[in-house]
Amino acid sequence: MAFVLGIMGSPRREGNTELLLSAFLEGVRRNGLQVRKLYVAEQGIAPCMGCRYCEREGFCKLSDGMDDVYRLLRRADLVVLATPIFFYGTPAQTKALIDRVQALWSRKYRLGLQDPKAPWRKGFLLAVGATKGKNLFAGVELTAKYFFDSLGASFEGTLGFRQVDKPGDIAMHPTALEEARARGRELSGGLSRRRRVLFLCRENARRSQMAEALLQRYAGDRFDADSAGEEPAPEIDPLTMRVMAEKGMDLAYRRPKGAGEVLGQGPFDLLVRMGCEVSCPAVSALQQEEWDLEDPAGGSPEAFQRVRDEIENRVKDLISRFGK
Ligand SMILES: Cc1cc2nc3c(=O)[nH]c(=O)nc-3n(C[C@H](O)[C@H](O)[C@H](O)COP(=O)(O)O)c2cc1C
Repeated sequence: MAFVLGIMGSPRREGNTELLLSAFLEGVRRNGLQVRKLYVAEQGIAPCMGCRYCEREGFCKLSDGMDDVYRLLRRADLVVLATPIFFYGTPAQTKALIDRVQALWSRKYRLGLQDPKAPWRKGFLLAVGATKGKNLFAGVELTAKYFFDSLGASFEGTLGFRQVDKPGDIAMHPTALEEARARGRELSGGLSRRRRVLFLCRENARRSQMAEALLQRYAGDRFDADSAGEEPAPEIDPLTMRVMAEKGMDLAYRRPKGAGEVLGQGPFDLLVRMGCEVSCPAVSALQQEEWDLEDPAGGSPEAFQRVRDEIENRVKDLISRFGK
């Protein structure tokens, strides 16, 4: 199901930033999408040390509250960064999160990998500040531009309000909350109109993960692709990661899901079963089809490549059959 991440960048709960972000997310919820508000200052994110580990390995050497944030950022279809202006920048806690996105920058620009959702994921900036200077939001806008680029999102714009200082000031503004609600609704509207496709296999570690990523990569703006397995494996098969990376596709931060996690998210427009012979759980779907695919589990890299290429052809065919 489409997922929207709201980054609450003020250390102050229920202040101006949070009120503005809540209004935006309320607009998103009206489209029936899943949302999550992330309280950055409570997440325990250490600042980047600039050690360059991520440039070599593609992952951050530190392990802390940012581990979850990488997964949430990669899951999100729309990311909204909400921040107060602190000395023409973001609060330090939020800047720590932004700097740690260097690991995603490295995956993109050093390792040449593309997140399958990157071609259509959107990013938006909400900002509040006390003064009324023309350049009040210039600093955070520049930071946001490169933040969104690194996580694979197009920067869709800023909604900033000046002369907002004391707690509750934003609620006194004649239009601010309504504007935020309207932007949330408008920016997430397209996501809610996509056809929903679920790929189901046994472990959600190979075939269904490939299919989900390929559909997202080629037509994620028109299809909301998800995948799950009857008996989810602890992690995605490293050979799946490898053969997808050969095609430039980055499956990092994804994990296998059990069918139970997606059951309640129906009805899907299309359920594609691939090798869950015994007891595919009852998923509510308007249409179903069975893809008869070789199971590459335990096989050679060449077997994984064969299956990947077969799935790629079938995904392209699916797009042409249902894409109108
Ligand atoms: C450390 C700090 C630095 C600030 N720097 C600026 C600034 O450079 N320009 C500005 O207009 N407001 C500045 N402000 C004011 C905040 O942007 C303003 O109070 C905002 O409404 C706070 O949002 P919140 O209620 O979500 O915390 C600063 C506030 C703090 C605490």
